[in-house]
Amino acid sequence: MKKNKTDLRFPVIAPSILSADFGHIRSEIQILYDAGARWFHFDVMDGSFVPPITFGPQLVESVRKNIDAFFDVHLMIENPERQLSAFNDSGADMVTVHYETCPHLHYVIDQIHKHNMDAGVVVNPATPVSVLSDIIASVDLVLIMAVNPGWGGQPFIDHTYQKLADLKQLLNVKQVQPLVQVDGGVNKNNTGNLAAAGVHVLVAGSSIYHATDPVASFHELSSQATRTITA
Ligand code: DX5
Ligand code: ZN
Repeated sequence: MKKNKTDLRFPVIAPSILSADFGHIRSEIQILYDAGARWFHFDVMDGSFVPPITFGPQLVESVRKNIDAFFDVHLMIENPERQLSAFNDSGADMVTVHYETCPHLHYVIDQIHKHNMDAGVVVNPATPVSVLSDIIASVDLVLIMAVNPGWGGQPFIDHTYQKLADLKQLLNVKQVQPLVQVDGGVNKNNTGNLAAAGVHVLVAGSSIYHATDPVASFHELSSQATRTITA
């Protein structure tokens, strides 16, 4: 089951399952889908580009059934081009690769599209958005990391706002409009500001799954993001 992202109304809160209970992963996703979540974020880590190891396409495939939501797979792995077939078969709608892992970034983005998935590119906190100048017209989404990749629950890096402003300028110059996503440290204190800064997709892991009531937290983040836009 694949989902067309044009069905979505932005900004959206995208729960990151990294902070969920993996012993009950299907119900952890279902409960937020039932609450209205229509975009889920999957963090794949290889123990090399980042120290932790998480999961692969088998997990994505096993939770895909009955969930008619957009699945974006954030690949924090070396040689991401080797995994594209497997993630496409698993039901992923989008694969996002790190600028820092792709010496042949144009080729990798092209390969993602050839596998019929949307393509995202992501930059680490210390990588300026200017490096995306020659690829930005070819991607469907730009992800700005607001923490160093590898772990949930880290504090939001404030410099992210400057990077969002830089990105906006680059998009204006290039006259292109990919989706903009922020990942890391998203919580009820910064959701409104990020939505107001033009972020379409706000990834939230620990602020949803480690909350006493994950559904209430999802609703609170969603309404703050929407309220800022409509205000
Ligand atoms: C970190 C991951 C994030 C992580 C965010 O490397 O890319 O998606 O789940 O977690 P929080 O929302 O807790 O910062
Ligand atoms: Zn992520």
